[in-house]
This record gives sequence, C-alpha cells and structure tokens, in this order.
Amino acid sequence: MRASGAAFAKLLWLCSSAVEGPGRRGDGHPAPEPGWHRSLKGPLAGLGGGGTGAALGCARRVCSFSFSVKVSLGGRAMQRAAALVRRGCCPRTPGPWGRSQSSAAAEASAVLKVRPERSRRERILTLESMNPQVKAVEYAVRGPIVLKAGEIELELQRGIKKPFTEVIRANIGDAQAMGQQPITFLRQVMALCTYPNLLDSPSFPEDAKKRARRILQACGGNSLGSYSASQGVNCIREDVAAYITRRDGGVPADPDNIYLTTGASDGISTILKILVSGGGKSRTGVMIPIPQYPLYSAVISELDAIQVNYYLDEDNCWALNVNELRRAVREAKDHCDPKVLCIINPGNPTGQVQSRKCIEDVIHFAWEEKLFLLADEVYQDNVYSPDCRFHSFKKVLYEMGPEYSSNVELASFHSTSKGYMGECGYRGGYMEVINLHPEIKGQLVKLLSVRLCPPVSGQAAMDIVVNPPVPGEESFEQFHREKESVLGNLAKKAKLTEDLFNQVPGIHCNPLQGAMYAFPRIFIPSKAVEAAQAHKMAPDMFYCMKLLEETGICVVPGSGFGQREGTYHFRMTILPPVEKLKTVLQKVKDFHIKFLEKYA
Ligand SMILES: Cc1ncc(COP(=O)(O)O)c(C=O)c1O
Repeated sequence: MRASGAAFAKLLWLCSSAVEGPGRRGDGHPAPEPGWHRSLKGPLAGLGGGGTGAALGCARRVCSFSFSVKVSLGGRAMQRAAALVRRGCCPRTPGPWGRSQSSAAAEASAVLKVRPERSRRERILTLESMNPQVKAVEYAVRGPIVLKAGEIELELQRGIKKPFTEVIRANIGDAQAMGQQPITFLRQVMALCTYPNLLDSPSFPEDAKKRARRILQACGGNSLGSYSASQGVNCIREDVAAYITRRDGGVPADPDNIYLTTGASDGISTILKILVSGGGKSRTGVMIPIPQYPLYSAVISELDAIQVNYYLDEDNCWALNVNELRRAVREAKDHCDPKVLCIINPGNPTGQVQSRKCIEDVIHFAWEEKLFLLADEVYQDNVYSPDCRFHSFKKVLYEMGPEYSSNVELASFHSTSKGYMGECGYRGGYMEVINLHPEIKGQLVKLLSVRLCPPVSGQAAMDIVVNPPVPGEESFEQFHREKESVLGNLAKKAKLTEDLFNQVPGIHCNPLQGAMYAFPRIFIPSKAVEAAQAHKMAPDMFYCMKLLEETGICVVPGSGFGQREGTYHFRMTILPPVEKLKTVLQKVKDFHIKFLEKYA
C-alpha cells in the first residue's frame, strides 16, 4: 500500500495529537481533558466527527491505522511525511485539509500549548528548583538587547518596513563577524592540520607546512581529531612559553606553567573555581573593575563568590587608582575574605592601557594585601595610542625583584579571539600561572582532566598566534602586511570614534587607547529616565533599545558592565569597516540629538 507524504503527514499529525494529547496520559490511560475540546475541534471536525468523544475515537483509530500504514510507505515518502510533521508542515504548500499547512501547523502548536499542566507530573527542573547561582548569572553582551536585534532581523527578512535595512551588531567584539579578513597564514596552517593531504599541495608555503607537520606530529595518531593532554599539546605549550619569553624581553616562561584553554573565558572561570571557598564572612571576595567585562560578574555569581567592585577613574581616562583598590578592599573585609584581584589590561569595555607605574602599584598592593592576581591580557596586541605601551604583569612582576616575583601568585590570560587575528570561533587560549603551589597545580590538572582537553583545533590556532612567520620565512611579508593592515585600521577607527563622539552634545568619550570598544558617557535627560522607569528599564537600556529600534544599531547598555550610580554609558565595538563605522557613528549622532530634543 502506498500513500503520499502529505496524506501520511495528516495521519501522523492526527496520531500524534491523539497520542500526546487527549487520548493518552503519561500512564497510558485515556483521559479526555476539557482543555482539549476546543483545540481538537478544528482538524477533527473536518473529518466529520460531531462531538469530542467521536473525534477522540476517530483520532485513536487513525493513529493505529497510521502505524500499520507506516511500514509499507516508501522510504522517501516516509521521510517527507516525518519532516512535514516535525516542522509543523511546510509554509506556502497547500495542506492536506485544503488549507495552508502553516495554518495547520499553527493549530497543531496551539493544541500543544493549551495542553493542561495537570496532565503531566510536576517537573523536577523549574525556575524555583534550579541552581540559584545559575539563575543569578547575567551576561549583557548577549542579553535582551541582542535578542531584540535578532527579532528585528527576522522582521526585516519577512519584509516588514523599518527606517533602516540592516541590523548592525556593534555589541560584541567578534572581528570576523564584522567582516575582518582572517590572517592567511593562520588559515593555511589550520587547513593543513585539518586535511593533511594538502601537505603535498604546491599551493601552500613551506613555512605553513612546517608548522602544520610539527603540530600534527605532537597529536595522537598525528591527527587534530584526537584528544590531547588536558594541559594542552606539549609543543604548543613550548611555543607559548617561547612567545612569552620573547614578549617579556627575556623573562623566562616555563612550559610547565602554561595551560591551553578553550578561549580565555575557560581559563578565567577555571582558576576562579579553584580560588573560591569559605562561608559567611570568610567567603572569597573577588575584586573586579567597574566597568567590567561581564564574564567576571557572571562567573562570580555562578560560584556564589562575593563580588568586590573597584571603580576605574573615568575622569582620568579610566585609569586604575590604587587608593580606590584600598577603599574597596577595606570595605569588603567587613563581609568577605578578599582573596583575588582581577585586572583587565587593555580594558574592556573602557579601552584604557595601564601605565607601567600603575601595574607596579597594583602588584605592590596585591603583595601587601595577599591577593591572587588575575591579569586578563587578551587585548595585548590592541594598543593604539602612540603614548601607550602594553606591559605584561608577568614582566613587571619579575622586574620588581625576587620579593615580588617569588611570592605574588599570578595567572595571566591570552586568546586567539582578539588581537589582529580575531579567531574567536576557534576557542583558543592559554593561561600562564606563576608561584602556584605544586599541589594546586595537581588540583588544576585534575579539574581540567574532567573536561578532557580544550579543542585541539583551538590549540593549533593558538600556536600560530604565538609562533607566526618571522623575517626570512616565505610567508613573512604577507603576514606582516595583513597584521599591520588590521591593527592600522583599528587605530584609525579608534581615533575616528573618539573624535566623532566628542563632537556630539551630551556624549563624552575617553580616548580609546586599546582593545576594540568605545564606552562613551551619555547624558540622559530626566524625562527619558522617567520614561524608562515607566517601561521598567534601566535608562541606558531604554536608550539602547530606542537606538536599535530607530537605527538598527545594536550596542550594549553600560549597566551591563557596571558604572557609577547616576552615570550612563553604552559599549560599541569599533570593528565595522571604516566606511560602515562612519555611517554608524553618524546615525548614533543623529539619534542622540533627536533623543535629547524629544525628552528635553
Ligand atoms: C576582557 C576579556 N576577557 C576575556 C574574553 C573572552 O575571550 P575568549 O573568546 O578568549 O574566551 C573577552 C572577550 O570578549 C574579553 O573581552
């Protein structure tokens, strides 16, 4: 017996309605529910069943019939029918009931929606019973504003008219999503590692092949598809150590202190996990900058640690002031045990690059207060101001002498995601630990082993970041050109953004010394603050929502990063290509002026 896919879809749909809904309960007994009458009326009435009981009986009969038919259906018809049912039928195709299948699908989902809760056992996992620490987690960079951006994109695709034609996602530091070209050498090595047959191809340069062979030889079965040691592939850790030694002007790095990670995020949350302990007033306090990158507050919530805020000095280009650290630690000691000090340098979202003097002061403070230092240095290649230089915490620590270098405990982080590579999707990163107790190193490896290993492709990408072509190698010139082009453009865009924002009345933007974001301060008139309150929104969320709805530009409200009470900001990446960035800035300017007028 053969049946068409559409006809079979109809049967299956009826069957699943009957099985899932009125005809069966979890215990297998028929249990007609009042809530079902309405929802079944449509499709079953069409079959001629007068009352609900008849309809149910009909559905059950159809159901068993459909199972007996199923075995004799052709394979392709079966697949099509199953797909139709799974998708709730295909829009624009006439449906089996002489109406559009999308309306049938809508009806089907309505049936599922009105299913009364009392027909199922109470769920084990509810908002009340779930891990409260996970519930407390917030991550603004992908928060409500980004969900709204997604909705608007769908509306644009459906042809709904807006005052703009595209959503510009300036909310996240994802370089390649913003059109930045990957560095050729990195992709060549990745291609060779992924598909080693290409090692015989004359299209790839010898230096790329050499890197790929070295990585593959260190992988189990010479394959990128095998697990690695939990700490990471040995030769890549050696390359990372050699890179750090070079970067820090000869201060030695030990491969044994290097842990390859799934992006920097993984390293940061892993080390925090080990650090957090105690209860009540002895619960671990973690000092973080405000504004911060929300990974920190999210992990602190998840671990139920105590967040200790120290404020960056906006009036002084977001500098870190040690007196503010002293205030924060003094106040925190009343209710927790401050044990960790997190630094982001260059800063996200604030873009400041710390001076050497400031880093020394911070290290001295950590030594004095017995704090474990976390140095987030993922933007170490992103320094634009000619007056600024990146200094690693590790280097400064060693230069401060043995009292510091043999005592202060430090973990520093780097990543494939930023810099000039922008390879966020590979999820490559490393962490270097200094002065970690040998037994803690054992605990760290144990913890990492539970997750087996970071992605080996990400490890390979990290290798290229720390071991790029050098002068004299075949790929050097092209690599150098590409790198300088990305960094040169970013520097240009950093200046452009600062200059343009500072021309707008009611916006003030500190210089973007590094990283990839502007974090301008915005004046929000009191009438707009009241309007935001009426919408139960933070004023800067209200501002950013309006900006998104009116211009299609998606930025993140400052409240997602933390800011001083009564001040408002937003974070915007400078990653769009120059011409697009100019358009974005002009649109923000026009919007801001109109916003001020509207709520004056
Ligand atoms: C300061 C900072 N640290 C860590 C991360 C996480 O980077 P990754 O992609 O390496 O996990 C980011 C990402 O934007 C960041 O800005």
